Amino acid sequence: MINDKKVLFSGMQATGSLTLGNYLGALKNWVTLSDEYECFYSVVDMHSITVRQDPATLRKRARALLTLYIAAGLDPEKNCIYYQSHVSGHAELAWILNCFTYMGELNRMTQFKDKAAKHADNINAGLFTYPVLMAADILLYQADVVPVGIDQMQHLELTRNLAQRFNAVYGDIFTVPEAYIGKTGAKIMSLQEPSKKMSKSDENPNGSIYLMDDPDTIRRKCKRAVTDSVGEIRYCDEQPGLRNLINIYCACCNKTPDEAVNEFAGCGYGQFKEAVGEAVVSVLSPLQKRVAELEKEKGYIDSVIKNNAEKADYYAGKTLRKVQKKVGFPERVRG
Ligand code: TYM
Repeated sequence: MINDKKVLFSGMQATGSLTLGNYLGALKNWVTLSDEYECFYSVVDMHSITVRQDPATLRKRARALLTLYIAAGLDPEKNCIYYQSHVSGHAELAWILNCFTYMGELNRMTQFKDKAAKHADNINAGLFTYPVLMAADILLYQADVVPVGIDQMQHLELTRNLAQRFNAVYGDIFTVPEAYIGKTGAKIMSLQEPSKKMSKSDENPNGSIYLMDDPDTIRRKCKRAVTDSVGEIRYCDEQPGLRNLINIYCACCNKTPDEAVNEFAGCGYGQFKEAVGEAVVSVLSPLQKRVAELEKEKGYIDSVIKNNAEKADYYAGKTLRKVQKKVGFPERVRG
């Protein structure tokens, strides 16, 4: 607990162009939950270098992502919005947790297998231990809740196991976190291949709606989305393309799939796709406008970066010192 509130931690990578999946699966829920919890929202730039990055581009994207968090409605006075690399506790706790993680556990991580296949020329140790750094992110702040999309569930399960394993040896050190999965946006699929998740790294740009796509591009991508030949608006596994569009529509308009199906009963796919396009535009356009405004406020963003890194460092330091003592590191001599 911090200030009598439960703690929330989540993060996003600043790699590639963020998609509507990132927004509906994570960022949107972050905003909804931000009043109820003491929140830490990190731009996880240390995770990003598990895949080769151009330094200038990474720096630029990290700042754009931090700005996006604020543009989405997270007040940096109330929410701790910061760069992971500014708080050395993440790396320090990750090292300790590495020594409590089994190779077999990491070998089973599907994201590792996918990324290793995709980057066969650079299967580095960081890519392998990536989920341990993620566990450190979460446990460092004693987070109670972690809002993520479904694709991060396996990593979260590992985090819980590590917390429990550590606690079993050393007593109640870590809070064991729970995932928070939104109702409709938790797994947004590709518009072109609805069996695949919508992803920043998709080679087909028509499969993903990027957060910075202009309205016409968004409308066009929705119009071209793959559906089926059933011709009836239903929410079922047999119509995965349509189901995905219904999920997108519902997450954008805060409606349930039943409500959406009733609303569009008897309509053709064309008409529904148009409505989905408009729903997405109505969510992304204001966001893009706010990003553009904030980008001009350089001094303000700089002060957020500085102040929040200090705040994160303070809370991270508290957990880290406790953990270091438990595992037997000698205390520092001060003064
Ligand atoms: P990342 O950067 O890949 O994605 C950020 C968030 O977006 C969600 N997401 C989706 N949700 C629904 N549909 C999709 N198509 C979709 N694509 C992405 C992800 O589930 C995630 O919540 N390892 C994490 C970043 C991370 C983190 C953490 C998250 C590092 N440390 C600690 C939570 C807590 C990642 O790569 O997310």
